[in-house]
Amino acid sequence: MSERYARSIANLERSRKTLAGGVSSNVRAGDKPFPLFFDRGMGSRLWDVDGNEYIDYVLGRGPLLLGHTHPEVIDATCRQLHRGQIYAAQHELEFHLSERVSRLIPCAELVRFGISGSEAVHGALRLARAATGRQTVVKFEGQYHGWLDNILYSLSPDPLRAGDELHPATLPESPGQFTGADSHVVVLPWNNISVLRQYLEEHAEQVAAIITEPVMCNTAVIPPLPGYLEAMRELATAHGVVLIFDEVITGFRLSLGGAQGRFNIVPDLTIFGKAIANGMPISCLAGKDRFMGLIAAGKVGHGGTYNSIAPAVAGAIATLEVLERDGAAVYETIELAGQRLIEGIRALALKWEIPVVLQGYGGIFYLGFPRDGKPPSLAQPVFDYRSSLAADQELYTQFVSAMVDRGVRIIPRGNWFLSSAHTQADIDATLAAVDEVFGVVVAPALDRAVSA
Ligand SMILES: Cc1ncc(COP(=O)(O)O)c(C=O)c1O
Repeated sequence: MSERYARSIANLERSRKTLAGGVSSNVRAGDKPFPLFFDRGMGSRLWDVDGNEYIDYVLGRGPLLLGHTHPEVIDATCRQLHRGQIYAAQHELEFHLSERVSRLIPCAELVRFGISGSEAVHGALRLARAATGRQTVVKFEGQYHGWLDNILYSLSPDPLRAGDELHPATLPESPGQFTGADSHVVVLPWNNISVLRQYLEEHAEQVAAIITEPVMCNTAVIPPLPGYLEAMRELATAHGVVLIFDEVITGFRLSLGGAQGRFNIVPDLTIFGKAIANGMPISCLAGKDRFMGLIAAGKVGHGGTYNSIAPAVAGAIATLEVLERDGAAVYETIELAGQRLIEGIRALALKWEIPVVLQGYGGIFYLGFPRDGKPPSLAQPVFDYRSSLAADQELYTQFVSAMVDRGVRIIPRGNWFLSSAHTQADIDATLAAVDEVFGVVVAPALDRAVSA
C-alpha cells in the first residue's frame, strides 16, 4: 500500500504539521484507507497525486451531478471570473438564477443565495421561529443539517446514550456546542408518523418547525415510507408548524424539482446546495412568500459577504441549463446507470452469498452489510436510524479500502453518488472490482465470522 500512495502519505505527514489533522473538514479525516491527495478530476474520473486513477462515486459528496470539470459549467464560471468576482451589490445573473429556481422548485416563491448548506439551514430555522413566535424545532435521529450549533444533534448517536428509540435524547455531536440550544431541539425517529402525530398533539404550541431530509441521505439513503411525507405535510399544516425540506443532497439530484418535485409534496421552506452548481460554492434558501417575505421586508436578518458571488451564480445557471436540456434527459441517464450498478451489485452479492442492504435511487444509493446473517434475499431494508445500526461498519470499511486500492472511490458511510458522466464502461469496471473484493475480502470475512 505505501508504494501506491507514497506521495499522499508524505503530503499528509507534512500537512498535519500546519493544517489541523491534515484536513479541512473532520469528515475527510475518516476517508479510507486514509485521507488521499488528489490532483485533478474529469468526468467520472479522479487522479491522485501518485498518478492512480479512480472511478469516483464520492463526487464531492454530492455536488458533481454532471461529473468533474463539466466544460459548460467551467466556461461560464471562468467567463464571469474574468469580468468580476464580488460586487457587494446586485448583478443581473442573480435574478436569472432566482427566476430559474423559482420556476423549477414547487415551494420557491422567493429565494435567497448563500454559500454553504449549513448557513441556509440556519436561515430557515430563524425564519420559522420568527414567523411562528415559537422556539422548538423537531429533527430526526440520523439526519444531518450542517455543522452549526443550533442543529448539530443526533446524527450518529450511541443508542445506549440516546435511550428509547421512540423518544430519543437530543445528543450534541461535538463538545463545545452551545448547551442552551439543545433544549429547543427535539429528536424523533424518522418514518414513524404516529410518534410525530402524538408529539405535535401534545406540544405543537411550542413547535416552530419540522426539519427533514425528504430522503434520509445521511443515514443509509432511506426512502420515506409510502404516505409518510404526505402525512407530515398535513400535520404541519394542521398545527401551524413550518415544514422545512433540507434538500442539500436531494435537490436537483432526485429530479429537477428535487425530492419535493419527485414526491409532489410542497414544504414551506427548503434548502439547496451541492448539485445546484456542480461544484461551485452556492446554497439557496427558498420558500413560500409568507415566510421568505419576512426577509424581503428586512424584518428577519440574513446576510453574508460572499452571498451570490458572481462566478458561482454563473456556474449554477450553467448547471441548471444542462440539467433542463432535452426535457431533463440527463436524469434518465443517471437513473439507468445507477440502477444497472445496483442490480449488478445485488447479483454479485447473491453469487457470493453475501447479505446486503441496497436501497435508494439511481442518483444516490446505499450499500451495507447487515449483521443479522440472513440470506441475501431476506436482508431487511433499513427504515430509520436505529435499524441502520445493524450494518457491519467494520466490514464495510475493509470493503471501501479494497475498492479504493482497485481504483473505485466510494464513501465509507455507504452512500454512492452517480453522475451523468458515469458510462456503461465505468459501471462494468466497478462491478468487476466489486466481484473481486466480494471474493477476496467480504466473503472470506463472513466465513471466518461463521466458523468463529
Ligand atoms: C442534508 C444536508 N444538509 C445540510 C448540509 C450542510 O451543507 P454544507 O456542508 O454545505 O454546509 C449537508 C452537508 O452534507 C447535508 O447533507
